[in-house]
Amino acid sequence: MSDRFAALHAHHAKVADRAILSLFDDNRAQDFSVQVDGMLFDFSKTNIDAAALAQLLALTTATGLAEKRSAMFGGQKINDTEGRAVLHTALRAGDAAVVMVDGADVLPEVRATRARMTAFVDDVRSGAFRGQGGRITDVVNIGIGGSDLGPAMATLALAPYADGPRLHYVSNVDGAHIADTLKGLNPQTTLVIVASKTFATTETMTNADTAKRWMAGHVANPSAQFCAVSIAADKTAAYGIDPSRVFGFADWVGGRYSIWGPIGLGVMLAVGPLAFAQFLAGGRAMDDHFRTAPFAANMPVLLALVGLWHTQICGYATRAVLPYDQRLSRLPAYLQQLEMESNGKRVAMDGADLPYHSGPVVWGEPGTNGQHAFYQLIHQGTRVVPCEFLVAKAGHEPDLAHHHLLLVANCLAQSEALLRGRSLAEATAIMAQKGLTGDELDRQARHRVFPGNRPSTTLAYAKLTPFTLGQILALYEHRVFVEGVLLGLNSFDQWGVELGKELAVALQPILEGRQTTADKDGSTKVLVAFLRP
Ligand code: F6P
Repeated sequence: MSDRFAALHAHHAKVADRAILSLFDDNRAQDFSVQVDGMLFDFSKTNIDAAALAQLLALTTATGLAEKRSAMFGGQKINDTEGRAVLHTALRAGDAAVVMVDGADVLPEVRATRARMTAFVDDVRSGAFRGQGGRITDVVNIGIGGSDLGPAMATLALAPYADGPRLHYVSNVDGAHIADTLKGLNPQTTLVIVASKTFATTETMTNADTAKRWMAGHVANPSAQFCAVSIAADKTAAYGIDPSRVFGFADWVGGRYSIWGPIGLGVMLAVGPLAFAQFLAGGRAMDDHFRTAPFAANMPVLLALVGLWHTQICGYATRAVLPYDQRLSRLPAYLQQLEMESNGKRVAMDGADLPYHSGPVVWGEPGTNGQHAFYQLIHQGTRVVPCEFLVAKAGHEPDLAHHHLLLVANCLAQSEALLRGRSLAEATAIMAQKGLTGDELDRQARHRVFPGNRPSTTLAYAKLTPFTLGQILALYEHRVFVEGVLLGLNSFDQWGVELGKELAVALQPILEGRQTTADKDGSTKVLVAFLRP
């Protein structure tokens, strides 16, 4: 396994210092980009050349990507540390699809749940389902991780399509989050969604209890204004939520991949079932592309290969996701879970230590805000941060088209600046024009040099519609899958979140003063002594 990337490392060693700009001939922008269903992914502003691309593509054969892709879509239990299939794609499958798990087609159940969800959403939106003080005006989704990040991100992304009740998302166990959210809401016209795959997550259940107490102070039957999204029907029943308002899914849907099903209930309430169906159609279109396009023209595969080149071959530790689309401002947080919980692993499928780094640190903020904050480091810092720009051709505000033009200009300017940089000679000429001379000219000019030659990719699309959002999310999901296959790890478990959870449980009685800190390290002892109420 350690030789898996040897040829790529050898090639990289030869080309690492060359100017990306020197790679551009008349065809590069076409050859190193791909268009699918109205979306353009351009990776020509990277140091990947034809030889590197061929070697990267060879990895897909060497690692059995095609077979593993079939295994995933076919319902095989590829998440083998949890003994589960990985079938979030089934949640957006077409009407004629059949997906077998353990000898049975799982899609009738998926469709039946979606039909119940749709009926409930229609009732809430039409006013047929009412709160104890009238029509539902507000919905509070209580969940965390995959039960929050996806729907919260998508609700914001699809704001122009929202014509239902107002959606609010509470995730943090910090009481500030729920207190600030409930303030100003009318408990008699608020619907609470408790979204938790396991219905056992401490943060979510603590917030749900608080919301229930808040509602109980104002309505006769708080449970009647609660619904649940979970696979744990026994627990939702014990919590007093009527089964007619419980929407389940199977254990083959991972939390961070769950927005396409009942975890998307909040999104469907906000934008309506039709727009939600378009969102699913966008995801499905990307699935079809991923399943059928040759790898050399396959957008998720190419996105993954670029990621692997930057992380494992060039050694860049992070990647920035920079949507020039304000409504995608939660996309970086969503992708942090999707990518880092999936591919932030240290062992291979067989349990052996990985002989190379796994997934990168993913971070970002929307443009142009980031330009006035951290782009300084991206342009002139000593570390290279590959940047992934996203931008739409048009916004949803035709009256503000001049804003959009500025937005696009800034996005393109940033990738151009990263590519070109500004040489010492250019900086010196600029400063000389301002009258500087001698040592001071040299000193001032050096501060104004941009090394350039910094890689970026751009994902461009016509407009952030529900369909486009579906395409984008499925694109990134498959990118994570492909990177996981190339790295030989399990992208679908998340054992790394467990230890902290266990220790938090053990620390509660210590903080309450019911147990001592005897078995704790010196630092934790001091912190407990300081923080104990
Ligand atoms: O702690 C990590 C995690 O298990 C995520 O994978 C998941 O999305 C989140 O917690 C929430 O889990 P649940 O939906 O079961 O409350």
